[in-house]
Amino acid sequence: MCKPTVKIVLVAVVMIVKNYECKDFVLSASDQSLIEMMKHYLHTSRRLECPNQGKTSNSGVTYVRWGKKTCPHGSEIVYTGQVGGNDHQSKGGGVNYLCLPNDPENGQHQSYSNDQVYGAEYEPGYSIKPSGWSESMHNQEVPCAVCYQKLRSTVMMIPGRKTCYKGWNAEYNGFLMSDHVTYNKKDFACVDNNAEPLDNKNGNQNGALFYPLRTKCGSLRCPPYTNESDVLCVVCTK
Ligand SMILES: *[C@@H]1O[C@H](CO)[C@@H](O)[C@H](O)[C@H]1NC(C)=O
Repeated sequence: MCKPTVKIVLVAVVMIVKNYECKDFVLSASDQSLIEMMKHYLHTSRRLECPNQGKTSNSGVTYVRWGKKTCPHGSEIVYTGQVGGNDHQSKGGGVNYLCLPNDPENGQHQSYSNDQVYGAEYEPGYSIKPSGWSESMHNQEVPCAVCYQKLRSTVMMIPGRKTCYKGWNAEYNGFLMSDHVTYNKKDFACVDNNAEPLDNKNGNQNGALFYPLRTKCGSLRCPPYTNESDVLCVVCTK
């Protein structure tokens, strides 16, 4: 977006100067003010079009906010959905959690059986929950939001922190979660601190599950970590 404007202005300046068609001309006061005007135009238009130090305006990053239907202030919502993934008892196939849109475009019915896209449920209950969470989340389905942060060019999730490092902007905070250690593998997801249910139905249908998880000292160095503790997380952009 920046370059075409700059080129047009440069061509205009070159044409104005060429049109004088004299070899030893002295720039008059009005020439000088024209040049100043052009410079000013270049500076302001570049700044408007490239707010992020020369990056083009069609940059930006997306991330999933697990456990919420909305995006943090400053990020645009791309879509909201329901978290899905493979069943906790499936041994093969996909391991990552998916943010499935609430307005799917569905494929055709099939007769083979290779079911891998289930809904996800929060499992935290009486005996296993991150600090501050309500037991009423148990068995509730999990929403998600895909968020577009257009002013930033990179995104990362930091496991083990609730604050971003200097120069980075916190999008949301959460607890690191995954499926239970006795079930089959899932990836780690940073589930929002103030996670909410998808709707008010809370049947125990299982599928992909979210459990809080703990640290274990040993190969994990303590300090700096602490034994058997919740793992905090934060999603940061820059
Ligand atoms: C962590 O906790 C477990 C069980 O309570 C204990 O056996 C282990 O020694 C602890 N590790 C450290 C480094 O404190």
